[in-house]
Amino acid sequence: MARTCLAVVLAAGDATRMKSSKSKVLHPVGNLPLIAHVTGSAAAAGVSKIALVVGRDVDAVEQAARLGHDVPITAVMQTERKGTGHAVLMARDIIAEGYDDVVVLYGDAPLFDPESLKDAVKLRSGGADVIVLGFRAADPSGYGRLIERDGELVAIREHKEATAEELEVDFCNGGIITFSGSQAIDLLEAIGNDNAKGEYYLTDIIEIARARGLKCVAIEASEENMMGCNTRVELAEIEAVWQQRARHRAMLSGVSMVDPNTVYLSFDTELGNDVVIEPNVWFGPGVRVGEGAVIHAFSHLEGATVGAYVQIGPFARLRPGADLAEKAKVGNFCEVKKAKVGEGAKINHLTYIGDAVIGAGANIGAGTITCNYDGQNKHLTEIGAGAFIGSNSSLVAPVKIGDGAYVGSGSVVTMEVPRDALAVARARQETKPGRAIVLREKIAEIKAQKRKSGSSMI
Ligand code: UD1
Ligand code: CA
Repeated sequence: MARTCLAVVLAAGDATRMKSSKSKVLHPVGNLPLIAHVTGSAAAAGVSKIALVVGRDVDAVEQAARLGHDVPITAVMQTERKGTGHAVLMARDIIAEGYDDVVVLYGDAPLFDPESLKDAVKLRSGGADVIVLGFRAADPSGYGRLIERDGELVAIREHKEATAEELEVDFCNGGIITFSGSQAIDLLEAIGNDNAKGEYYLTDIIEIARARGLKCVAIEASEENMMGCNTRVELAEIEAVWQQRARHRAMLSGVSMVDPNTVYLSFDTELGNDVVIEPNVWFGPGVRVGEGAVIHAFSHLEGATVGAYVQIGPFARLRPGADLAEKAKVGNFCEVKKAKVGEGAKINHLTYIGDAVIGAGANIGAGTITCNYDGQNKHLTEIGAGAFIGSNSSLVAPVKIGDGAYVGSGSVVTMEVPRDALAVARARQETKPGRAIVLREKIAEIKAQKRKSGSSMI
């Protein structure tokens, strides 16, 4: 955008229907707050500045609005909720800085396409004074209706003010309105509150502009793009659309998903080429997966780096700080947290690896546990390249196991195992020839006695 554009983002609305202790715009979609989606898309459309109108949780909302872009933001308070027109005027001082265009966005409507914002600004530069983004609503009730005549927008009628004839209109105000920066304050100040709700409706700006001989136009976007969030039901609907889009993007970029509807992505999930994702996989924030990796069914990943050609799961859990080098394997019922796992290392069954460094090609046997926590502190376990940890071993950290060392199954390792050493840390086996017969007879005798005394126990 060569022109300067100010986005006024309204985030001071009533959140009572969310029944939440926090501001509505802080609720996440794709693990990113709603408000961050809105400001991120505004930034992607090329706005020069963002004025954020906030009512509660000011610091948290402002912080969330800054995520993922570097467009300057100034937050302003709307202490009394007097309507969308009033809310925009809270940014009066910022509007007065002078912008070619002002665009109003709603902080709870995160799905709009940045391209549609660019289209609106293009139309403005082509001579229209006010541009409204509308959509054809399957059920228009509750929305402001866009009343058009001869290709121009003549009014937005709020549902409560609409006549029976106007209520028939299914072309609705999506909430994104663009107007001229130089006319903005003048138009906004002319808005009154003489209506059913006693609110200052931003939407009155159309009739005010028309009365001044200005040209107003509506452009159509999809209903999906205009979805807003008032309840947690709508939050889930928005999440579903967002996930659908994210999966599509991933698949078109070269990721295979066996059953995409069961794969959940985060705003920052990075998936390499030829990654295969089986059904029912959850990507929390901060996951990067390298080329050709396979994520088997029912795996849960967050804050993890997965190298190329790694295999995860089925039923694996990677927690923050899990960092797996190329061709490593983490199999079923394994949990890995804050651990570097070397190239080709295998952690295949029923294992917990936390606060650890594992060398290339090491083999971690079934049921191995790094005992990383003493109740107060976390300690490091270091396992060398090519080491072999026998099944059902407990590695009591801090502890080091050298390159190429062997740990016998069932060991509880509390001391360093040097390079190429064999450590067996368990009670020695005792074998008593023939004693099984004696034992069996003894047990049979107890059983017989119990029967005789009429005990109900077997
Ligand atoms: C608004 C529009 C309506 C449109 C609909 C689209 C008006 C008068 N009506 O209606 O034409 O079809 O959105 O969803 O604009 N907000 C504030 N401060 C306020 C009031 C609202 O910050 O004092 C914010 C809200 O957080 C919300 C947005 O403005 O993000 C819209 O407010 P809301 O009350 O939801 O408007 P609607 O009645 O849905
Ligand atoms: Ca609304």
